Amino acid sequence: MTDPIVRITAARKSFALPDGGRLPAVDGVSLDIAPATAVALTGPSGAGKSTLLHLVGALERLDGGTIEVAGQEIGRLSGRGLAAYRRTVGFVFQRFHLLPALTALDNVMAPVLPFRTDFDKAARARELLTLVGLADRTDALPSRLSGGQQQRVAVARALINQPRLLLADEPTGNLDSRTGASIVELLLRLRDERGTTVVIATHDPAVADGCDVTHRLRDGRLAPSTTTFHDHGEFGSL
Ligand SMILES: Nc1ncnc2c1ncn2[C@@H]1O[C@H](COP(=O)(O)OP(=O)(O)OP(=O)(O)O)[C@@H](O)[C@H]1O
Ligand SMILES: [Mg+2]
Repeated sequence: MTDPIVRITAARKSFALPDGGRLPAVDGVSLDIAPATAVALTGPSGAGKSTLLHLVGALERLDGGTIEVAGQEIGRLSGRGLAAYRRTVGFVFQRFHLLPALTALDNVMAPVLPFRTDFDKAARARELLTLVGLADRTDALPSRLSGGQQQRVAVARALINQPRLLLADEPTGNLDSRTGASIVELLLRLRDERGTTVVIATHDPAVADGCDVTHRLRDGRLAPSTTTFHDHGEFGSL
């Protein structure tokens, strides 16, 4: 088997409870993610899906265990190394999180705007908006875009640093099923055309079915027997 791009080993994260106890949100999860695959994380509300995504994206720190991404143990990173790592990861959220006063183009450029880059920010943002099918809406404010279009802008924004890993937390949660399907199609296209590894936390079985593998979480744990490989046959995953 090819080396995994993400290797999670006995990952643990708990949060403080008001009564002084700790809530184990992720409680000893181990799993490997192969490069250029689409992986679904499913499970009931509170199962730890978002927390696991945040740990992989280094938005939260592990309490125990390790997460290696492309051979690098992210728990050991700090300062510049951590900032550099975060730039290799793209995040897409359920609520899009676009800046309402900025155009689609400026929203896509926003993550890199304060920084010097070795690429032309506006040119790349335009290219990404074209990729997600919004070439003609670059100057639109989010309030003038549909939910699906706003999520496309958010996907383009997540790609501005050409991440090898795209983490999507309920990316279709605020969309009707057809629009949601088109967002999943877009994420799977990124896997196929750019070799991006896509990890999607989702409640939607249809979204999980479109992925290569599903891992089911419950109470912060993963049951190996609930890992499902989806065989999409010779016609691929669409
Ligand atoms: N910042 C936090 N502070 C305290 N508790 C938290 C925090 N983030 C998550 N939790 C708790 O950790 C557990 C796992 O939460 P998480 O958001 O990872 O679940 P989830 O599977 O994403 O759920 P959902 O499907 O509702 O999005 C929950 O019990 C939640 O209340
Ligand atoms: Mg969640």
